[in-house]
Amino acid sequence: MFEIIKKDLDAALRKDPAATSKWQVFFTYSGFRAILRYRIAHWLYNKGCKRIANYISMRARNRFAIDIHPAAQISEGFFIDHGVGVVIGETTIIGKDCMLFQGVTLGGTGKDTGKRHPTLGDHVMVSAGATILGPVTVGDGCKIGASSVVLMDVPPHCTVVGVPGRIVRIKGEKPQELDHQLPDPILEELRRLNKRISSLEDKLKIHSCKYSIANQVNGVPILTSEEIEESMQDKEE
Ligand SMILES: CC(C)(COP(=O)(O)OP(=O)(O)OC[C@H]1O[C@@H](n2cnc3c(N)ncnc32)[C@H](O)[C@@H]1OP(=O)(O)O)[C@@H](O)C(=O)NCCC(=O)NCCS
Repeated sequence: MFEIIKKDLDAALRKDPAATSKWQVFFTYSGFRAILRYRIAHWLYNKGCKRIANYISMRARNRFAIDIHPAAQISEGFFIDHGVGVVIGETTIIGKDCMLFQGVTLGGTGKDTGKRHPTLGDHVMVSAGATILGPVTVGDGCKIGASSVVLMDVPPHCTVVGVPGRIVRIKGEKPQELDHQLPDPILEELRRLNKRISSLEDKLKIHSCKYSIANQVNGVPILTSEEIEESMQDKEE
């Protein structure tokens, strides 16, 4: 356990540019101090002292507003930056060298039983306010954007942003295939509306204006009033 705690300390120093020394992290970082309590609680939990483990966990939650269930499995090199408002559920599994920011929830949807919390691979970063729900797997090296909500599995080395989360980068590159995206109801609705506009234009036998969103799925243009007027004139001609 001491080896793991030492690696957590090293991780905090490595991942937070504001950290200047191990002493500073040890005595003043609420994220590190909550993880320290979790390590002790987890050790006791595995030894069968579940009540004491739960008590330590409850005290840590009251003190730091970081609620880590003692049964959660968290590998070495774990760091919570600006540690406050974090929830990590009972069946969560977190790989090596992962980092969470404030306000992260690794929770259940309320619909699953048994393994009902997320599994994070190694070197995963979950940004401020992000929520990952259900027994989903987030692959190695993924980055989850601030305030995202992830409800489905994410392949390794992806960046996910938005609500619900969608993949915007795979190994640093924009994804080519939209089929690989997580479902986006707003995008689906835009596509449906685009189809309706196209079919209405066909029925009315009018030409699509050059700024029509009918052919735009990503990056819908925002038109100025002059551009709208210009496009209307085009249509009249
Ligand atoms: C997701 C994040 C980690 C960046 O990862 P990345 O792989 O470097 O991705 P990029 O910066 O290249 O952004 C990829 C795309 O997602 C968009 N994006 C990034 N973060 C986003 C977010 N939180 N919400 C919505 N869109 C976001 C970018 O605008 C970009 O859009 P584009 O494809 O139209 O260009 C970062 O933006 C983030 O959310 N950091 C928050 C860290 C944090 O919690 N800090 C708190 C400190 S107190």
